[in-house]
Amino acid sequence: MRASLPSSFSSDIPSSQAAVDIFKGLWKSAFPPQSGLVAGTVPNFEDARVPWADRVLGGLRGRSILELGPFEGYNTFQFSQLGATPITAVEGNSTNYLKCLVAKETLGVNASFLHGDIRLYLEHTERRFDICWASGVLYHQIDPLALLSAIARVCPRVFIWTHFFDERISSNPERYPNFVPQQDVEKELDGYRCMHYCRSYLFRKGQRPASFSGGHDTFAYWLRKDDILAYIDKLGFSEVTIRGVSMDHPAGPTLSLLASKPDGV
Ligand SMILES: C[S@@+](CC[C@H](N)C(=O)[O-])C[C@H]1O[C@@H](n2cnc3c(N)ncnc32)[C@H](O)[C@@H]1O
Repeated sequence: MRASLPSSFSSDIPSSQAAVDIFKGLWKSAFPPQSGLVAGTVPNFEDARVPWADRVLGGLRGRSILELGPFEGYNTFQFSQLGATPITAVEGNSTNYLKCLVAKETLGVNASFLHGDIRLYLEHTERRFDICWASGVLYHQIDPLALLSAIARVCPRVFIWTHFFDERISSNPERYPNFVPQQDVEKELDGYRCMHYCRSYLFRKGQRPASFSGGHDTFAYWLRKDDILAYIDKLGFSEVTIRGVSMDHPAGPTLSLLASKPDGV
């Protein structure tokens, strides 16, 4: 059987907008206003988390960054604008990966995008980075402790933005129908044992949405906030600056933080 991939042909004058329009109707993010490019509507290219990390870390200029799951390349763009270098971003979803390449080419992002699984990259790379940007990926993992442990092997600083499990999820199944308490498990890694709470990512209509930003598994395990904090401390990330905890996010409580190893290795 011959391999095939849907393709279209542009007969317009070549332009950045023509490249962005390969994914017309599929972008979530609005491109930076100064680019004049029309894509999605969410102002992700102006994400306040990146300037916050820039301030707390005393500047990203000249720092190497490993970004996990860049989605549409907006944080990558911000790192590049702030002078971080080299920037490596690993994206597993093929559509998202190609969107990142379009963002890179049309906006001039100084980064390398790799296509594949973030945990396998962390476990196999010989490279080391100043900062790991792990935003929106921990709660998509079947083995979240293993992802944190793999990050600690490669980077002495990590930014984490993640959902976490909390009693308000188990006590309100109508609001959080995707949790499956019968499949919660206690798991252990390197002597740290904690409950893992099963969150299903099966799609009710059987199909992933066209603009999908989740993981590739049909379920993931969420951790409690205190277990995330205790486990990163055990990994040596003992200097922690909490950016915020929100209990109001519609998908579940969120935590964001920067954590560093005091010895920087
Ligand atoms: C929720 S989005 C987060 C996007 C962005 N980092 C942010 O915080 O706004 C998760 C991204 O990670 C990617 N992703 C999820 N699991 C992954 C994995 N195991 N390996 C590589 N990419 C993954 C998804 O395709 C998606 O682009």
